[in-house]
Amino acid sequence: MAAEPVNLNEFQELARLALPKMYYDFYAGGAEDEHTLKENVEAFHRITFRPRILVDVSRIDLSTTILDYKISAPIIIAPTALHKLANPEGEVATARAAASCNTIMVLSFTSSSTIEEVAASSNAVRFYQLYVFKKRDITATLVQRAERNGFKALVLTVDTPRLGRREADIKNKMITPPLKNLEGLLSTKVSSDTGSNFEADANETMDASLSWKDLEWLRSITNLPILIKGILTREDAIKAVEVGVAGIIVSNHGARQLDYSPATISALEEVVHAVKGRVPILMDGGVRRGTDVFKALALGAQAVLIGRPVVYGLAAKGEYGVRRVIEMLKDEFELTMALTGCPSVKHITRKHVRTEHERIH
Ligand code: FNR
Repeated sequence: MAAEPVNLNEFQELARLALPKMYYDFYAGGAEDEHTLKENVEAFHRITFRPRILVDVSRIDLSTTILDYKISAPIIIAPTALHKLANPEGEVATARAAASCNTIMVLSFTSSSTIEEVAASSNAVRFYQLYVFKKRDITATLVQRAERNGFKALVLTVDTPRLGRREADIKNKMITPPLKNLEGLLSTKVSSDTGSNFEADANETMDASLSWKDLEWLRSITNLPILIKGILTREDAIKAVEVGVAGIIVSNHGARQLDYSPATISALEEVVHAVKGRVPILMDGGVRRGTDVFKALALGAQAVLIGRPVVYGLAAKGEYGVRRVIEMLKDEFELTMALTGCPSVKHITRKHVRTEHERIH
């Protein structure tokens, strides 16, 4: 068994050693120059603390509530594709880890375990992430299956009218297995000999005409609350509230779509100010430390989602690895709360952090 990692970044190295290069690159890579990929992490480093002292922090309560679901900490599992490339148990292992950590898992539309398998595997609170296909019936069928199988909310990802240009996958000629959830629903298998088949499939099936009015269609086919994932501007945040979403996820898709999008932690406050508390705001992208979780909450997020670290945990040590990733992040977050003088998440305020643009008086 490989050495026990002491932080999330060490899990990345274990995953690199455990996985074939093609799969590691698929998980780790970003779009084009990978500028945003680096920024997602580095922008957190430029935020510092304004810790408060002599606060009773003998008891720390990390728990929070997202859409009425009480979870052990404001750390949720982001939807990421194809967990079986990391571990044969795939998303079933991830769901079990979510349940044992008492957190929410967002299952990806492009999962390798089926909706039904994941639902049967644990009692974790699960949300279902959606892409809208040109063939609307396919998306509608999956929404119904998620609803029938006890998923509690939909997460509509809106930053992917086409797949971003991920050059590692193109070079590796990344081949993905057929998506089990879509078995019998897609008529033809798309293939490409120039780039990755993931990219070719996505561009063939994804509905690039999706627009705000389609939110109405989605609402007409489901009673589940809808969160919108992939908002980076105040203009779109206001529109999202107007069309009645239940929550917003500030995200640049882990820097896999539009390179030179801002780091999500830098875009968060703009969205928070525009929304003015009308719906909950979550964020993802580059969260690797408990201090990052704290910074996101201080800047107005209700919770963060983690993408790659979960997959790295899964690749390195299966279900146990995912659990360790979440537990380590929770432990670091708890320590940050103690050292900044915040006994509960409600105590975390904007005044506990200083961004790079704020002068020191
Ligand atoms: C993703 N992401 C993603 N998002 C989504 O809405 N549907 C999906 O199927 C996927 N698939 C996916 C695969 C892989 C390998 C990665 C790394 C990411 C994006 C994901 O939900 C999330 O926004 C980012 O992963 C967050 O950034 P970090 O935590 O990976 O830095």
